[in-house]
Amino acid sequence: MINKYIIANLKMNMTAQEVKEYLKIMNDTMFCSNVIICPSDIYIPYFLNHSYDVGIQNVYYENNGPFTGEVSPLQAKSMGIKYAIIGHSDRRKMGEDDLIINKKVKKCLENKIKVIFCIGETLEQREMLKTDKILKQQIISGLRGLNSKQLSNVLIAYEPVWAVGTNLLPTTKEISDCIDFIKTICSKFLTGLPFILYGGSINEENISTLKNLKNVDGFLIGGASCNANKFLKIIEIIENAQ
Ligand code: PGA
Repeated sequence: MINKYIIANLKMNMTAQEVKEYLKIMNDTMFCSNVIICPSDIYIPYFLNHSYDVGIQNVYYENNGPFTGEVSPLQAKSMGIKYAIIGHSDRRKMGEDDLIINKKVKKCLENKIKVIFCIGETLEQREMLKTDKILKQQIISGLRGLNSKQLSNVLIAYEPVWAVGTNLLPTTKEISDCIDFIKTICSKFLTGLPFILYGGSINEENISTLKNLKNVDGFLIGGASCNANKFLKIIEIIENAQ
């Protein structure tokens, strides 16, 4: 059995001093190998070469050129970064559309960076019973043109937008149904089946229930992963379930 992925999305949090304190706790205590931490770009060098892998929270879709302020998958790869989060709802809200997301996904895979591909419906879409339609569209457009080998390097993170950073959590049945739906869409429209993760308001309390979801291959954790002790607790609970 493959261990569940445990991914920390630290987003735009922590000062340099806070990062040092975070790493001290993490590096002294971290014991498992299926953890990926995605810090802000400027802190990435501090996180490299430990017992966990490092992901980048965003990349551009070209390898180099006049794109001030951007970081490319080629550059990320050359630093030892193994994963990139693409399509996160924070970035979709900033205007990233499916076309840009698809270009970023492809450029990452070309450079052998694995993709943590985020999808999810807004509350409004959910209330209008459009969840399935939205997930299907995001999967088909975002992962368009990938072959089965490339898809084996994609992790889809189902993150309902209304559950991200809100302390609102879907029921386990709702999560499980959406994961099954995503798997069905992948097998119908793609040439392979990526791993499927859940993300959105995970904490050290609700993980005890979420960890039992059989069809979920891992978790993407935002807020709670910014506190090293809370994140370690979450890891411990997931690991003990395996
Ligand atoms: P959250 O964020 O755990 O704070 O809800 C999840 C994410 O944004 O990936």
